[in-house]
Amino acid sequence: MSRPNETEPLLRLKGISKSYQTTEEHVSVLQKIDLSVSTNEMVAIMGPSGSGKSTLLFILGLFLSPSAGEYIINGENVLKLTRSRQAEFRRKRIGFIFQGADMFEHSTVYENIEYPLIYAKSKPSSRAQRIHQVLEQVKLTHRMHHSSNKLSGGERQRVAIARAMVNQPAVILADEPTGQLDLDNSQQIMKYFRSIASTTDTAMIIVTHDQNIAKECDQALHIENGQLLSEK
Ligand SMILES: Nc1ncnc2c1ncn2[C@@H]1O[C@H](COP(=O)(O)OP(=O)(O)OP(=O)(O)O)[C@@H](O)[C@H]1O
Ligand SMILES: [Mg+2]
Repeated sequence: MSRPNETEPLLRLKGISKSYQTTEEHVSVLQKIDLSVSTNEMVAIMGPSGSGKSTLLFILGLFLSPSAGEYIINGENVLKLTRSRQAEFRRKRIGFIFQGADMFEHSTVYENIEYPLIYAKSKPSSRAQRIHQVLEQVKLTHRMHHSSNKLSGGERQRVAIARAMVNQPAVILADEPTGQLDLDNSQQIMKYFRSIASTTDTAMIIVTHDQNIAKECDQALHIENGQLLSEK
């Protein structure tokens, strides 16, 4: 994968619009959104319920195609790729932390982190070392062989982070990663995010309702009436 040059941001959205067509109505959610994110940057996306935050994150994660616009990541116009090439790109270059830290409940912590490595076809011989590395980063080595359904809320969120970062993605997308956590756990998660963003070639894009989390990010953006507005 070629590295972007110094002036080119890691990721760029240009004129992204998205509408949903249901049998009864046409719902216009995003209108001509522009966004630039650089490596090592942390970006908060805020906005009222129903404003399109998850829609934007799903477009960034290549789970959803926009109705119009361009999406360039690592110099590649990813909307031009076939769906299967997009899925491959996602597996290798994008980490996703879903709301509620969904995981395979009857698998162990270790297995949950191994799945994305398997999907990305990483060499079996290098997997164990990488899993140990990310577990150390989120301080969960002692829970490696624990069944996932026996973890606390904060621990689940840390497994979700380890899983999102295991393939060394260019960008990690997190949908309300601290929504169900208390203040201490939220601050700890933000510390991990900052350490990932500053020590690896990764950008973080975080959907949040929490103003304190947005304050810790380099860009705080609001979706209002389909537009993306900058806060500072
Ligand atoms: N598949 C769909 N078909 C039709 N409308 C949809 C679809 N998915 C989302 N919407 C609508 O698009 C709008 C934006 O939804 P989205 O989930 O992106 O909001 P959100 O900002 O993430 O909200 P929340 O904070 O509640 O999670 C909502 O009005 C929603 O009803
Ligand atoms: Mg949402």
